[in-house]
Amino acid sequence: MLTATQIPVLSAEEAAAMVGNGDIIGFSGFTPAGAAKEIPTALAKRAVAEHDAGRDFKVGIVTGASTGDSLDGELARANAVLFRTPYQSNAHLRAAINKGEACFFDMHLSMLPQAARYGHLGKFSFAIVEASDVSDDGEITLTTSVGASNTFCTIADKILIELNEYHPAELKGLHDIYEPLDPPHRREIPIYTCRDRIGSTAVKVDPSKIVGIVKTNRPDEVGGFKDPDPTTLKIGENVATFLAKELEEGRIPKEFLPIQSGVGNIANAVLGALGANPKIPPFEMYSEVIQDSVIGLMKSGDITFGSGTSLTVSPDMLKEIYADLDFFKERMVLRPQELSNNPEIVRRLGIITINTAIEVDIFGNVNSTHVMGQNLMNGIGGSGDFTRNAYISIFTCPSIAKGGAISTIVPLVAHLDHSEHSVNVVITEQGIADLRGKDPVGRAREIINKCAHPEYREQLLAYLGDAKNGHTPQTLGKAFAMHQAFMEKKDMRGVEM
Ligand code: COA
Repeated sequence: MLTATQIPVLSAEEAAAMVGNGDIIGFSGFTPAGAAKEIPTALAKRAVAEHDAGRDFKVGIVTGASTGDSLDGELARANAVLFRTPYQSNAHLRAAINKGEACFFDMHLSMLPQAARYGHLGKFSFAIVEASDVSDDGEITLTTSVGASNTFCTIADKILIELNEYHPAELKGLHDIYEPLDPPHRREIPIYTCRDRIGSTAVKVDPSKIVGIVKTNRPDEVGGFKDPDPTTLKIGENVATFLAKELEEGRIPKEFLPIQSGVGNIANAVLGALGANPKIPPFEMYSEVIQDSVIGLMKSGDITFGSGTSLTVSPDMLKEIYADLDFFKERMVLRPQELSNNPEIVRRLGIITINTAIEVDIFGNVNSTHVMGQNLMNGIGGSGDFTRNAYISIFTCPSIAKGGAISTIVPLVAHLDHSEHSVNVVITEQGIADLRGKDPVGRAREIINKCAHPEYREQLLAYLGDAKNGHTPQTLGKAFAMHQAFMEKKDMRGVEM
């Protein structure tokens, strides 16, 4: 380890004092894993002090994906968000966004680094990244995520490091850092299996750009998952049944294909079900987030390798990993999100993608992001990167939400993230709708009969009517009648269609 001796060691407050009003900052963090913690919190305090003194103070916040509360929560509460992209999942920031108090734009995560390099997001003044090691010659070893940190360090004028001693030096070797050239010079990305390593173990920068180090010793702010319930267990079981049948019928090769699994409670339950199904052979993951359930399945041998951009596990699970780091380093790699989510690789490897929907319409369009078409939940994340290029794209969700007052199967999605052209299979606790090779009316019948909750089937079939209203029999005047009923009466049931 060549830990830096010549770079000034600063307090978080001294580091925050370097940042100016209106600066655009690329922060490390993909989920709370590897997110900067101390400097953003100090920045939020500074913003409050500046506002109290009657001065403007807001910064543009660009990250890998969501972060922890000490970044998104603190800066949102301090009203210090000039703009935010590409993804978030913080309750305070979400509220500010939905009240129109914080500007947020939702981006495909694989495209964020290149958009930043192309200059589409403005000029980055700072990269503020968490590291487990930094050397005087400018080698930065990251912690539990890569995200877009490598790109932020390359393009920003100055770099501030949070050197987090919570992470062991032996972490070096977990990361594989590689950045594609920009057009017109870009070549193919030479990843041909989940396990391929094509880059370096550290981010390499001009050391003169590193203007300070803040020493910290803090775990990631990763929360737990809800325990699987009968609904999520049934969804997981249905996904496993579907994939086992595809394998049996020869539509998935016998060595199986890599799995990508989304974020959240449902995704966690689905992975557990895949591991538990004896008909599914041990498999590899080429995904975005490596979460607790993946680690359990690595230990049991059900997952043989995991490629991701973040290791988003609970603090206890991280301790277990660090206690047996050699075992996990052989089975895991963390890549930049530009590669973990890269459409070229998703299509080449033939990835089976499993993501969660907020709602699905009867023709197969998916809304992943906006409740009632208006309020942002989290963002599209990597779901579009994977879905559009999948070998088989699957969307899961419970058939109802809010105790049955909402049907997640609707006539027309109130916000569109994934179109009918990209969605192959929809799975709820009710069953499996295989949309492949079906026309819009065929898809509608399949989704209503297999996936909708029985309480809603009749009204959805009534909406479809005699299906003579064009190729996609949509009745525009009624397409949002169920949403409208929920907005007015807090219940979608019993709507006349
Ligand atoms: N209308 C209103 N609320 C709905 C809803 C609907 N149609 N569907 C779900 N919800 C609510 C749930 O009631 C729950 O609310 P609560 O927190 O108040 O209980 C909340 O949304 C989360 O739903 P849950 O069933 O617990 O699912 P989840 O934790 O698996 O999250 C998503 C589901 C869609 C929000 C989440 O997967 C997501 O943000 N996806 C988009 C990004 C993505 O796919 N990333 C992965 C790419 S690698």
